[in-house]
Amino acid sequence: MQETSADVSSRRTFAIISHPDAGKTTLTEKLLYYGGAIQMAGTVKGRKSKLHATSDWMAMEQERGISVTSSVMQFPYRGCLLNLLDTPGHGDFSEDTYRTLTAVDSALMVIDAAKGVEQRTVQLMDVCRMRSTPITTFINKLDREGRDPVELLDEIESVLKIRCAPVTWPLGMGKSFRGVYHLEHDRVRLFADGEVIEGLDNPRLDQLFPYEVEHWREQIELVREASESFDHQQYLDGELTPVYFGSAINDFGIRELLDDFTDHAPGPLSRDAGRRVAAEESTFSGFVFKIQANMDPQHRDRIAFMRVCSGRFEPGMKLHQVRTGKDVKVPRATTFLASDRSHADTALPGDIIGIHNHGTIIIGDTFTEGEKLHFKGIPDFAPELFRRVVLRDPMRMKALQKGLQQLCEEGATQLFRPLIGSEWIVGAVGALQFDVAAYRLRNEYGVECSFEPVQVFTARWVECDDAKMLERFKSRNESALAYDGTDALAYLAPTRANLDITQERWPDVTFHATRDR
Ligand code: G4P
Repeated sequence: MQETSADVSSRRTFAIISHPDAGKTTLTEKLLYYGGAIQMAGTVKGRKSKLHATSDWMAMEQERGISVTSSVMQFPYRGCLLNLLDTPGHGDFSEDTYRTLTAVDSALMVIDAAKGVEQRTVQLMDVCRMRSTPITTFINKLDREGRDPVELLDEIESVLKIRCAPVTWPLGMGKSFRGVYHLEHDRVRLFADGEVIEGLDNPRLDQLFPYEVEHWREQIELVREASESFDHQQYLDGELTPVYFGSAINDFGIRELLDDFTDHAPGPLSRDAGRRVAAEESTFSGFVFKIQANMDPQHRDRIAFMRVCSGRFEPGMKLHQVRTGKDVKVPRATTFLASDRSHADTALPGDIIGIHNHGTIIIGDTFTEGEKLHFKGIPDFAPELFRRVVLRDPMRMKALQKGLQQLCEEGATQLFRPLIGSEWIVGAVGALQFDVAAYRLRNEYGVECSFEPVQVFTARWVECDDAKMLERFKSRNESALAYDGTDALAYLAPTRANLDITQERWPDVTFHATRDR
């Protein structure tokens, strides 16, 4: 069956970005609920309780109450098919988050009304800005005393450098939170019972809130005069964000958000792969942005998460892995419905499919029907923390190497094999990643190991156009050089001063802090 472009354009592939505790998990659950993906009304379950948010799936996440892995949830809503890519909220997992943001077409930003713009949100917005990702903003927890909404918008504009167009506006806050007003629809929804009142000048409002309504009318008039109105093109260009107010835990203000989001958010966008690849193209292409081993302990499988960029995927299809030049038959793939993994029938651009593999696929791999494309912009970041791996039982060396290699291919940690010596070094962006690695090595590979301090300050990938010069550099700096998991050469600087001096001494060698896969 030939797919119509309408089926493709109905996809909305997005991520929720926020600082931990702003309400991402709560909002995710509500969105899934609206999409009919989970049968769970009412309030989100506590971190300490047995029932966890659908997006948390590893035992460790449950133990620690943090979201470690990214998961993918697909659900229908009003004629659209939404692909929500969950990102870990904890700062230590930022690389995973950054890469996930390369696979989306837009993002929802959640901000805590009392806390305003927080550090992690700033970092995530930086990543979104690199690709001009369209952002929709939800200001959460209006049921609590928070900051003045005008002040919050000012802060978003000045700190996140994106212009704000309020689409809904809160009527009161905290104990006196009465509802939200939709500036475009001229409609009030009441917090207490969900009643909808058409028109801000509706006498029903005077009747219900005789002491407050005049103040709201004045305030909204000011807001209309002083703030930007929503402009679809500027939103798509990532220059302007529509802003909604509400309370995720009370399921309030979310329908307005979701309705507009499905109307405005872009369908699958074209992408740079050496040439621009449009979603409407008929031949298949996609790239891998994440690898996850053993999501289901029963199956001990490894899954490569691939974003479909063009064409369509059908089970049994033969795909060309551009990096290796090999054709791979993919008998089955996995799509991600909210609560369980099920076999994909057909996946279209914007969809994420999971491909089972035995370590042959790495992050950044492009798959096509034969064309030599390479999707760009999936970064590797230089780790900031380094530990040497110490194995408790020397007999388990093989298992350790296999485990480490696989964990590092997933991309959360990076493996370095020094040119001299047999000790392996693991690098990470955050300390928690070492705990996760040790935990998983124990549980999934049966290896007890510890991560001990090592004198490495940072890593830089080195490159030099002059092969002779590179050889000279290698022989003079052997003790500080290592190969990473993809056999790329990296300089492990013991101190910042050493890095500075080495860079000065070798002006023709380039030292990269990030590496585009
Ligand atoms: P995160 O994924 O961004 O980290 O945030 P999460 O949804 O886990 O929410 C963080 C805390 O904020 C949770 O409380 C949650 O119940 C609360 N919360 C979310 N939305 C709202 C809201 O609209 N209003 C209010 N007042 N609180 C909200 P917690 O006590 O940390 O956890 P829990 O034990 O309730 O799960």
